Amino acid sequence: MKNKKIRWGIIGLGNIANKFATDLATVEHAELVAVASRSQQKADDFAVKHHSKKSYDTYAALAKDVDVDAVYIATPHSFHKEHSILCLQNKKAVLCEKPLAMNLQEVAEMIAVAKENNMLLMEALWTFFLPHFRYVLDIVKSEKFGKLKSVEADFGFFKEFDTKNRLFKKEVGGGSLLDIGIYPIFAAVATLGKPDAIDANATFFENGADSSCTMNLYYKNAKASLKSTLLEETKTEAVFTFEKAIVKINSQFHEPSTVLIIQNNKEEVINFDCKTIGYNFEIEHFNQLQRAHKKESPIMTFNFSKNIINIADKVRKIIGLAY
Ligand SMILES: NC(=O)c1ccc[n+]([C@@H]2O[C@H](COP(=O)([O-])OP(=O)(O)OC[C@H]3O[C@@H](n4cnc5c(N)ncnc54)[C@H](OP(=O)(O)O)[C@@H]3O)[C@@H](O)[C@H]2O)c1
Repeated sequence: MKNKKIRWGIIGLGNIANKFATDLATVEHAELVAVASRSQQKADDFAVKHHSKKSYDTYAALAKDVDVDAVYIATPHSFHKEHSILCLQNKKAVLCEKPLAMNLQEVAEMIAVAKENNMLLMEALWTFFLPHFRYVLDIVKSEKFGKLKSVEADFGFFKEFDTKNRLFKKEVGGGSLLDIGIYPIFAAVATLGKPDAIDANATFFENGADSSCTMNLYYKNAKASLKSTLLEETKTEAVFTFEKAIVKINSQFHEPSTVLIIQNNKEEVINFDCKTIGYNFEIEHFNQLQRAHKKESPIMTFNFSKNIINIADKVRKIIGLAY
């Protein structure tokens, strides 16, 4: 069933759900069939905008809909576990936003439930599937520029502190680390793997959510210097230093971008033609896994998700951040 149509549902109709639905519409053999919000009016409006046949005012109603094959979870971090498990137990494949959950224990529980129910579960870390990032991963794997010696990655922007905004609400996992720090951590883990040691430093807002976080990951023969901040605009680049070249993903490195290669005092820019926001790549991968009856992605593996959240847990321990 190479072209089997995958029927999607979306839970939590905020900022990212809108972008995801926009790109889902560009994917062949996939259809948005149901959306769920805590508000019927919001669900109805979203359904009209994104051409969904059904709209629900509870997440549970969508989870029970027999016409839905896969659910995209787009609620705040602290609800990822509960909403993913709700869908997995109703025999839905689940693509859940990053971070997969608040901590390693929650991620392990979600994976266990996916396995018990024999359903596909994947963290929606879209960057892993973007052509420019895959291009850099090929460079790392082939060692065409020698071994990777260091990774420097940052993600930062300024946002006025506002306790009503999800980004700053500590109780839902707000703060720089889990929202955007996940991306620099991801860049390091995808290219260098699991670190041997970690150190970290952070600053905090008045409610205890982290406003910025600097992290160093140490490897036997390499180092990753990472930063996330909600206090200032940063370049949001990822620089990979190899023995024989420097490969830089230009700003913003986590979304469709260009790659700069600097070697022998020469610079070359590689362009990747991307006509969408970029979420279609993870959706297409997920659809293929479903058609092949796979229960785990060979790219965004369970171990990979565990490694990322485990690093975030360790960083939190070092900087003294508990939710
Ligand atoms: N991959 C990416 O590029 C990307 C980008 C941004 C965010 N994200 C991730 O996606 C998730 C959602 O982020 P977002 O920026 O879309 O957030 P958002 O705009 O605040 O939307 C989150 C939605 O979750 C639902 N929700 C359920 N319980 C909630 C509660 N107690 N408080 C607030 N919202 C609640 C709401 O939908 P209803 O009102 O419809 O129920 C809300 O609209 C986060 O985990 C974030 O890390 C990923």
